[in-house]
Amino acid sequence: MPAFSRRRLLAGAAGLTGAGLVTAWGAGLLDRTPRPLDPHDALIGQVEAARARTGTIVRAALTPRPVTLDLGGPVVRTWGYADTAPGPLLRARAGDLLHVEVTNQLPATTSVHWHGIALRNDMDGVPGLTQPPIAPGAAFTYEFTAPDPGTYFYHPHSGVQLDRALYGVLVVDDPADPGAYDTEWIVVLDDWVDGTGRTPNDVLASLHSMAGMGGMMGMRGGMTGMSMEAYTSPLLGGAGDVAYPHYLLNGRIPAAPVTLSGRPGQRVRIRIVNAGADTAFRVALGGHRLTVTHTDGFPVAPVDTDALLLGMGERADVTVTLAGGVFPLVALAEGKTGQALAVVRTGAGDVPRADARPVELDRAVTTTGSLRATERVRLDERHPDRTHRLELGGSMMPYRWTINGATFDDARPLPVVHGERVRLQFVNRTTMFHPMHVHGHTFALAGGGARKDTVIVRPDQTVTVDLDAGNPGQWMTHCHNIYHAETGMMINLAYRM
Ligand code: C2O
Ligand code: CU
Repeated sequence: MPAFSRRRLLAGAAGLTGAGLVTAWGAGLLDRTPRPLDPHDALIGQVEAARARTGTIVRAALTPRPVTLDLGGPVVRTWGYADTAPGPLLRARAGDLLHVEVTNQLPATTSVHWHGIALRNDMDGVPGLTQPPIAPGAAFTYEFTAPDPGTYFYHPHSGVQLDRALYGVLVVDDPADPGAYDTEWIVVLDDWVDGTGRTPNDVLASLHSMAGMGGMMGMRGGMTGMSMEAYTSPLLGGAGDVAYPHYLLNGRIPAAPVTLSGRPGQRVRIRIVNAGADTAFRVALGGHRLTVTHTDGFPVAPVDTDALLLGMGERADVTVTLAGGVFPLVALAEGKTGQALAVVRTGAGDVPRADARPVELDRAVTTTGSLRATERVRLDERHPDRTHRLELGGSMMPYRWTINGATFDDARPLPVVHGERVRLQFVNRTTMFHPMHVHGHTFALAGGGARKDTVIVRPDQTVTVDLDAGNPGQWMTHCHNIYHAETGMMINLAYRM
């Protein structure tokens, strides 16, 4: 059972109210929602008791703290879970109980959110909503059963902390599936600014102040004064609001890349995570085609492709049969200037240049929204009991992002009732793409589409998803552009009794 009472939770939520925008990601709802289902409601206990469990406990410890990272040249002071980015790899089997002690050594409150996991609500890591923020010097133990196999990640749900080195991968293995591959690589993509003269909080502040004085050009140009045109991706419309000095693959800049080694003929499963705050990545491996097998943890009808586009918060698993030689694995910062890179080595050859641009990047590009669920995980046909329309809006001047015209602090929670089939319609009225993420559930894209927890919604596009409301609690639903979420593009999917 969780180690704190409802009274403490409410005190934590109230304590956050005065703390200002930057720490408020997730604050301020419990007191306004009529009859919300409490994160400690007995119904949650019933759902927990019915979960399949292995009986195994997987123990881990995370210590968010100030660290110095060598990105492969640039040395940066930042905040991390380890002296590397990404943080420790956590690994469990479906049905295992994860027991993770988090000790906060940061000079700020923090939290850990388990992105994509349909876990018990009070372990979801949203300060002010599902737990009190973890104060500097304090500790909090997360304990939950991970129900579904797949590739997931963890990060704070506090301000713009995700845009530092506070992220790590959580892999949940399927005890029933050995997997049709010989080896596995984990590839984490990130856009990097911290310690290069600005922190993510500085970036947020300049987005606010540039909006105040500059207007569209200044905003789209981010920190470097690039033209609007330079910031547009034909695949996405828009391309983010921030020009980053670096793009990282497993914590390294492309001039000093990691090497992923294998043997010719081997089948590799590559688990790819976009942990960026404001950047979609287009991924390709020179000289190879990728077979996409999973997105956001769940299996899809396999698709062969040259390149794959992943928005912030999205994951994909691909398999590749390795050729002989040395190849660039490139993650292009979609619509921006720059890329991340790893070297894939199975034989002799020269290391690719930092700006290597394999032709595969410009051939067939698969977007995850076009993938289809496998039979086993397809959501059955059912008429929705309830439909919520989420109109995505916003402005650059002032810098402010909304759902149904309201920022998070003013938004009325979206009610759902346990057992319902719920339809969400994301209607994008902006010129920017938004990777929309729902906590605690895996939705289905309309008409037999992939099961996912994060989906890109392009400008002027409407994306319809269905979910079964089977995991009671209070669940954040938001854009995974951290600057959009932090300035308002977030709402609570709130189970009601
Ligand atoms: Cu990856 Cu609300 O988060
Ligand atoms: Cu957004």
